[in-house]
Amino acid sequence: MTEATYLHATRTAYDTVAADYDRLLRDALNAKPLDRAMLAAFSELVQAPGTKPVADLGCGPGRITAHLHSLGVNAFGIDLSSEMVAVARHTHPGLRFEEGSMSALDLEDETLGGIVAWYSTVHTPPELLPTVFAECHRVLVPGGHMLLAFKAGDERRHLDQAYGHELSLDVYWMPPDHVADLMSKAGLAMDAQMVREPDESEKPRQGQQAFFLAHKPAQGVVTGCLRLSETDEHSASRST
Ligand SMILES: C[S@@+](CC[C@H](N)C(=O)[O-])C[C@H]1O[C@@H](n2cnc3c(N)ncnc32)[C@H](O)[C@@H]1O
Repeated sequence: MTEATYLHATRTAYDTVAADYDRLLRDALNAKPLDRAMLAAFSELVQAPGTKPVADLGCGPGRITAHLHSLGVNAFGIDLSSEMVAVARHTHPGLRFEEGSMSALDLEDETLGGIVAWYSTVHTPPELLPTVFAECHRVLVPGGHMLLAFKAGDERRHLDQAYGHELSLDVYWMPPDHVADLMSKAGLAMDAQMVREPDESEKPRQGQQAFFLAHKPAQGVVTGCLRLSETDEHSASRST
């Protein structure tokens, strides 16, 4: 699937369901203590003095943006669907929401202190995930953190109905090891991985749920292999 095709299909589907998605999921986080724990850890990490704003990419109706805000995070939301953005603005009038795609963010390099992508990469065809992670790496400040929530597994499902509406939408369950590898290749260093079992509201159709916390290393540092900074390389070559 091309990028343009998936973006159009996803935008159309979420424009259709926006109001009902908000109604059905607005309070869902209340019954998910492990998910809240990951959001709480992320919130602590992105609140050092002078930290830049945090973007909730694929924010939908803004429930995660609002939760982050309640934890003291300077968060704003970006979503592909204009209807989702309209619902988010209506429901959370004090917060900022913008239209945009996480595959081509309208943000300067190194302008975000943190990124949350909460079940918003689940519609991205796997071959396009490297583009999304490269964008996340580009806009994060060195030391900035990223929290990714996704469905663990290895399959694509096509939905023709969801949230009480007819639609056409692909959803991808991704192997956690593969996602970790893609994030690492994009230059994001893994800090923690939580894979939990489906809760009662997710059974029987859903499987395990994955939550990855990663960061963009300071310049010159790459995890998983040793890369010396430019200065170190020069001094290393001088000493040999
Ligand atoms: C399952 S909903 C999750 C919404 C929200 N994060 C939440 O947890 O309530 C997926 C959202 O991701 C958005 N989305 C999907 N692909 C996107 C992209 N490339 N850029 C921005 N938003 C995207 C959809 O429009 C939709 O609102």
